[in-house]
Amino acid sequence: MRKQNFQWTEMTMGVCYYPEHWDRSLWRDDLRRMKETGISVVRIAEFAWNKVEPEEEKFTYTFFDEFLDICLEENMRVIFGTPTATPPAWLTEKYPEVLNGREDGTLYRHGARRHYNYNSGKYQELSARIVEKLASHYGKHPAIVGWQVDNELNCETYEYHSEADSEAFRVFLKDKYGTLGALNEAWGTVFWNQTYTAWEQIYVPRPVLNDGYNPHMYLDYNRFISESTIRFCRMQTEIIRKYKKPGDFITTNGMFWNIDNHKMAEECLDVYTYDSYPSFAFGLDRDPKNTKDLNDRHSSKNLTEVRSICPHFGIMEQQSGANGWVTRMSGPAPRPGQVRLWAMQSVAHGADYISFFRWRTCTFGTEIYWHGILDYDNRDNRKLAEVKEFYRDFKKLDELCGSEYVAAFGILKDFDNVWDTNIDEIHRRVAEASEEEIFEIAQLTHTPYNVIYLHEDTIPENLASYPVLFYPHPVIMTEKRAELLKEYVAQGGTLVLGCRSGYKQENGKCVMMPQPGLLRELTGSDVKEFSFVHGMEEPVWADWDGKRMEMPIFNDVMEPAVSGRSDESAKETYPKDCADDKIKVLAAYGNSYYTGKAALIEKKTGKGRTLHLGSAFSRQNAELLFEYLGVKDPLRHLIEAPEDVELVMRRKDGREYLFVLNYQFESRKIVLKKAMRSVFKEIEVCGELEIPAFGVEVFEVLMNK
Ligand code: GAL
Repeated sequence: MRKQNFQWTEMTMGVCYYPEHWDRSLWRDDLRRMKETGISVVRIAEFAWNKVEPEEEKFTYTFFDEFLDICLEENMRVIFGTPTATPPAWLTEKYPEVLNGREDGTLYRHGARRHYNYNSGKYQELSARIVEKLASHYGKHPAIVGWQVDNELNCETYEYHSEADSEAFRVFLKDKYGTLGALNEAWGTVFWNQTYTAWEQIYVPRPVLNDGYNPHMYLDYNRFISESTIRFCRMQTEIIRKYKKPGDFITTNGMFWNIDNHKMAEECLDVYTYDSYPSFAFGLDRDPKNTKDLNDRHSSKNLTEVRSICPHFGIMEQQSGANGWVTRMSGPAPRPGQVRLWAMQSVAHGADYISFFRWRTCTFGTEIYWHGILDYDNRDNRKLAEVKEFYRDFKKLDELCGSEYVAAFGILKDFDNVWDTNIDEIHRRVAEASEEEIFEIAQLTHTPYNVIYLHEDTIPENLASYPVLFYPHPVIMTEKRAELLKEYVAQGGTLVLGCRSGYKQENGKCVMMPQPGLLRELTGSDVKEFSFVHGMEEPVWADWDGKRMEMPIFNDVMEPAVSGRSDESAKETYPKDCADDKIKVLAAYGNSYYTGKAALIEKKTGKGRTLHLGSAFSRQNAELLFEYLGVKDPLRHLIEAPEDVELVMRRKDGREYLFVLNYQFESRKIVLKKAMRSVFKEIEVCGELEIPAFGVEVFEVLMNK
């Protein structure tokens, strides 16, 4: 979301509340205790369709009328959720066509949630009607400050297999391709005799032997799901907009698969909200010794993605207790300090609104182990005390509301490539590994980054503020995107690409060009051969000025592509002198059968340069690249900190704030190299300090000291 229609003007704390889960006699007391804790907003109603339409077309508003009026009296603000994630039993029983299903056509039945499909005309009609009823009745209620559409679009499942989906898929494809001939060509259906002779022969994926799906079909299917989701969201937001008060915002929560969230946010929402549950990292079925992926600190990766959608976002559900359904996903209770730490992690990454999930743990239902702030017994407890403590500190950060996250570099992504990894095994393996490893080493070396998604309308100016951009594996490359990258580099940017770049076109077919295809002119590299790293051989490495660099997972075996010369003549002078002073082989393979071949090539173009690494990224090779490119640890002049604390810099009106987050079970020492103001303690500090276990500090850098 490039422009937010709504932004919080002060740090605001909320909670998720389900009046339908509790006796009315508890409501007022709950609201008062919330207010005493600092909670000023409740998110309600997102699963409560029956409370408003208990029978088809019998609408009643008394339940939420009563609750909202009490909210008003208690000065509590409300975010009202539309209930479409949980259609009533009367609805799915009468209209089973609204249900989503498995690939084999078995329908998901009433009893859980999100079992509907986006494309059923009936579901669209009934959803539009309930949203219209809710928005027209409650839209002007003075307690309401915002609206949430549905709940976690594409959570639980992000694949749709109903008949309505197949019908809508055909319409989507007709619109995209016009003729069956064009579709057959784009999908390469001549392969295995898949040619379609009538639109009715096309379905959303159905079971096929050995998962041997047509990859080009699957790519379009992913695009189709995204479009269907956005359309469903937009249908609701357009209705709400007719009735809501000016200034009230529309959002949706979560960040799930197969949605172009950026497009959805841009086209439908005023602000984006996310649900943050960092303790998924501590699931009871996880290997306790596996600390490689940074555990709860790993949530910073998702928060970075959320920031790419909406820089000043909200957290609609912030974990406040142990997670777990009765059937799965159990985890331990957060340790003292962890709830505050996780909430501050969200704030550090851009959240100006923190709403905890949930006020009190439910005493019934699937989520009896998904704990909230209060436990079943409803007594004050240490979690409540910690939320109060969080609030005290959160309000001291008011001056940071709307501040900017300071990134040392950017990572480019685009949805063609994200979705291609859903079906392409090679692409998935390199992309997942690289994304993970770059995140980890960026965290460990205190090198903050932003993610930037390339869209149809991205222009070079959107990228220009990043001196360095990693685009790890742009397998699918379009002419437009290649042009954009050329422009970015020509104007002085440094672009870093990994293996498998540019060998597919938009429909997922491979190009008949030397790799990296459309990027070849920019990279100056020519991929002569490529292979997965053989599982039987020792890890492949390259020599970079005497340093050993890991070349994991997949290797592009390269030569410099010297302009104006044949590849053969380039080879004669390679690697010492490429005869083209713009192209340089920085590292050559040190083992495997391609020893001596180029592993990392740099080419200068205009004022910038492109680096092509012939493998996936690992912590080790990414760190070497950070050093070479001068982006590593940009905060080192301000602070010395061990790798297992996270550092974040936020900036506003020329003032700089440093977040220090300790995820460890023990305290950690840091050294401030300049005088700073401890925002929480309200004192000036410098030199060595101790951050307690799960502690968070925010320091304002004192500019003229
Ligand atoms: C979220 C969801 C909530 C609740 C919570 C705990 O994903 O939005 O409704 O289910 O998880 O499971």
